[in-house]
Amino acid sequence: MSSDATRIGVLGGGQLGQMLGLAAIPLGLECVFYDPAPASPARMVGRHECAAWDDHDALARFADAVDVVTFEFENVPAASLEFLAARKPVRPGVRSLELTCDRVREKEFLRSVGVPVQPFAALASAQDLDLALATVGPHGVLKTRTLGYDGKGQRVVKSAEELAPAWDALGRAPCISEAFVPFDREVSVVAARALDGSTAVYPLVENLHTRGILFRSVAPARVPDALADAARAHARRVLDGLGHVGTLALEMFVADGTLIANEIAPRVHNSGHWTIRGARTSQFENHMRAVAGLPLGDTSMDGPAAMINLIGGLPATREILAIEGASAQLYGKEPRDGRKVGHINLVARTRDELDRALADAEALARRVNRLS
Ligand SMILES: Nc1ncnc2c1ncn2[C@@H]1O[C@H](COP(=O)(O)OP(=O)(O)O)[C@@H](O)[C@H]1O
Ligand SMILES: [Mg+2]
Repeated sequence: MSSDATRIGVLGGGQLGQMLGLAAIPLGLECVFYDPAPASPARMVGRHECAAWDDHDALARFADAVDVVTFEFENVPAASLEFLAARKPVRPGVRSLELTCDRVREKEFLRSVGVPVQPFAALASAQDLDLALATVGPHGVLKTRTLGYDGKGQRVVKSAEELAPAWDALGRAPCISEAFVPFDREVSVVAARALDGSTAVYPLVENLHTRGILFRSVAPARVPDALADAARAHARRVLDGLGHVGTLALEMFVADGTLIANEIAPRVHNSGHWTIRGARTSQFENHMRAVAGLPLGDTSMDGPAAMINLIGGLPATREILAIEGASAQLYGKEPRDGRKVGHINLVARTRDELDRALADAEALARRVNRLS
């Protein structure tokens, strides 16, 4: 008996939704996007249900129109998700969201499945400040437990005296205080898990952030094989521990030759955009396959690959295409400071060839990028 779903409801209609929708078409899948924003990039590749997250009539209409529900945006209100989950399968499941939407629960989960994390403490009231300092030490990062992204809702704390003012600056919201990791590099693993529990894990990616926003991803990361294998094994532990169905990303630091997990994105992720050109099956296609109950595709790559984000501004498309091995992926969004509006993907035969193209692509992006 076939349990394949063909109509996929996607919560969120940003660029991740757009790229999911593009991957869905050749698989014969049809996407419906739910997003309160009228100008959602995904409206170009599927029907757009434009309504508020608490509009039950619209949610019911959406649930009726699809076989299965997935998301490209993880901050969907819990009540809306429950409403949908009562009507249609939600993949990945509610557990994947619950254990990753709160930075404290996320780190507890990571530790529980044997993935190393730095010392951390929850901060809910002024009484917790001393314990947080004792657990984490004076050099830390304070982050709101929920809703942070692209470095928002975070303060680096450099001494004991800075902790209380940093918490004030975050509006005394419930926070996680975590030790600052003096990392040598940042890496991530993008991986997918199918409905039958089989997994597909991409090569390790090395990421560079500028002011908390991803600027560059390069795959495979230049680290010893044993480290890359360990990182990919951690991603499998996370996939299985969550009982995840679909793609996710596990972000990690490499410090002193060891891995420390930073966070999980329970969805397709910016550090996996290179897979559109650089891997045999993209992270978006594998997510769609998983959600539709189809087998996963090959995650291997034929040569090194990279991605450069275009943030707050765009060059002329012909300038991107003039770079050796480059392809453009533009989201159709109005440029605004700090907003991701597209990316450049690069593929090459050798690392030297990739490095040359990277130098050109980075120079181009630096010229147009406007961070907030
Ligand atoms: N504990 C830490 N130690 C050192 N750098 C950190 C730490 N936490 C975050 N950062 C830096 O800030 C970036 C964004 O933080 P992250 O926790 O990934 O939040 P976001 O949800 O905004 O991506 C990281 O990619 C890293 O460069
Ligand atoms: Mg992050």
